[in-house]
Amino acid sequence: MNKCRICGAPIAPFMSFGKMPIANGFLFPHQYGQEYFFELAPAFCPQCNMVQLIEQPEPEQMFHGEYAYFASTSAYMCEHFRQLYSRVTKDFLGDDPFVVEIGSNDGISLRNYAAAGIRHLGIEPSANVAERARSLGVQTWCEFFDDKLAHRIVAEHGKADVFMGANVMCHIPSLSSVFKGVRELLKPTGVMIFEDPYLGDVIEKTSFDQLYDEHVFLFSAQSIANAARPHGLELIDLEHLDTHGGSMRYFLAPTGARQPAPIVAQTLENERRLGLDKPETFDSFRRSCEAIRDDLRAVLDRLRAEGKRVVGYGATSKSTTVINYCGISPDHLEFISDTTPTKQGKFTPGGHIPVKPRDAFAERYPDYALLFAWNHAAEIQAKETDFNAKGGRWITYVPKVEISQ
Ligand code: SAH
Ligand code: TMP
Ligand code: ZN
Repeated sequence: MNKCRICGAPIAPFMSFGKMPIANGFLFPHQYGQEYFFELAPAFCPQCNMVQLIEQPEPEQMFHGEYAYFASTSAYMCEHFRQLYSRVTKDFLGDDPFVVEIGSNDGISLRNYAAAGIRHLGIEPSANVAERARSLGVQTWCEFFDDKLAHRIVAEHGKADVFMGANVMCHIPSLSSVFKGVRELLKPTGVMIFEDPYLGDVIEKTSFDQLYDEHVFLFSAQSIANAARPHGLELIDLEHLDTHGGSMRYFLAPTGARQPAPIVAQTLENERRLGLDKPETFDSFRRSCEAIRDDLRAVLDRLRAEGKRVVGYGATSKSTTVINYCGISPDHLEFISDTTPTKQGKFTPGGHIPVKPRDAFAERYPDYALLFAWNHAAEIQAKETDFNAKGGRWITYVPKVEISQ
């Protein structure tokens, strides 16, 4: 019997996507023999409502000196974090402010604070991206955050006005130790601000590709409120975001320190309406995933039979789940176009589809592009007007399989 990672109640998976490799584990053919696989099976906890993976690879297998994800590849995300910086400096900084961010990656967010001379510290265990951040003047410790590290930060730098994390809290299996550490790290007037893909969007859009090794949790306001409460932290505000296909930004403060905004109660009510507290919701999600898998596979099989050229667009971490769950092979996709230099020339995890720079896409447009980076659709559409003008067609699969005209 498996136990909930948060509250310890017994849990069982509501589906399995089958065996999956490390989502960001792009590799060379000589490494195929050593590729690591685990079973991707999410579960819902009926007691605390946390959606979580039963099995997850060790953090060190995913976050290391050759981590493939450089956050600043997206201009849209750079602007997103610049706006958050404006909000934080306006609303949450006291005297002699100190800001801590975990999962600070290549400095996409903290570079704003560094440029303004605001005291800050990034915690980033993947050495290559941490190094990039340092080169931009972002003070960075190459470590995994937990309660022990929080203790060391307080000893060396004092307490923080703001503790932030974007697309990282849902990666950390020992979530309780993070909340414990944050409670110790924050000033009494301090706030914790973090954002992650939102369970409500995943259920509404059937964006099953948010489930992959790194995402050990999919949060809702209710599950976050429940997980933070024992550590003396409460939800005081929420902001729904359009990033990563639909995310939620959570604001927490020491219990009783700040008055919760009305949107907190409204969101909890909306989550009950969506059924995020009911096991049946996840059974119907499983059926929707199976329908998308079958439809996408049928489209790709048909295009292959018709001799069409199809390429993937964006070798995202999410695409690893789609490729392996739907059985997409190099016979279906000639290659995947991606702007990240460290992914180019390698092959995708599990499916072993070649990754090539965007030039390969633009030099000879395919008939169809399968949009794996669907969360960056607006940015990509603005860039690929020539492909569209020449009759190129896009295949998307969230919330259902569609081909553009
Ligand atoms: N914040 C950026 C990057 C997210 S990628 C953005 O939103 O775009 C997630 C990052 O979290 C990776 O760089 C990974 O190395 C880091 N990470 C994973 N576990 C962590 C932990 N326990 N503490 C701090 N960072 C962690
Ligand atoms: P993400 O969905 O996890 O943010 O990853 C996006 C991936 O897509 C990343 O590998 C970079 C790639 N990408 C492109 O190839 N072209 C683009 O225009 C954008 C925005 C992203
Ligand atoms: Zn639980």
